[in-house]
Amino acid sequence: MSGVAEANAMTFENLSAAFEGESNAHDKYVAFAARADEEELHGVASLFRAAARSEQIHAANHAHVINQVGRRAECEPRKVAVNSTLENLKTALNGEKFEIDILYPGFLEEAVEHKFTAAIRSFTGALEAEKTHARLFSEAIALLAAGKRDSWIAEAREFYVCPVCGYTSQTEEEHERCPVCNCLWEKFEIIR
Ligand SMILES: [Fe+2]
Ligand SMILES: [Fe+2]
Repeated sequence: MSGVAEANAMTFENLSAAFEGESNAHDKYVAFAARADEEELHGVASLFRAAARSEQIHAANHAHVINQVGRRAECEPRKVAVNSTLENLKTALNGEKFEIDILYPGFLEEAVEHKFTAAIRSFTGALEAEKTHARLFSEAIALLAAGKRDSWIAEAREFYVCPVCGYTSQTEEEHERCPVCNCLWEKFEIIR
């Protein structure tokens, strides 16, 4: 029996909540990127665009699992509150921390309990990718709070996003495969 067939209603609730959260995170980061560009923080804007793409991949992965059993992924769009870029970065970091520390570990535990393989894969990819976002947002916050505008936060730059799991990296350095899902590095999307 496949993992999907063994899935229970709770896992679908969780997949739907994750889909909605990721969809809204995408919209939020697109709005934060526009604000960062207005503040001449083009490197931060690049980071928000890369993270937005990553969240879009997570939403699509969750939706795919939901669709596999004939259900539909639905999302209630939330209004985005845009503040200064420093505040937006802090908001973004808090959102990532919540997903890393509370949301995905809880969802994963439940999916593991029910041996729902597709959901386990989708939640794990998102959880690990969110850690890369948290690290990059923290770095940007530290630079911006210290007034270091002569750093990468000011210039538009490239980020690399795994098309399978959304893992986000700032360097090409010796990667051959995604450290999370093993996707070939040459397939990564370059977001600027
Ligand atoms: Fe994220
Ligand atoms: Fe990946």
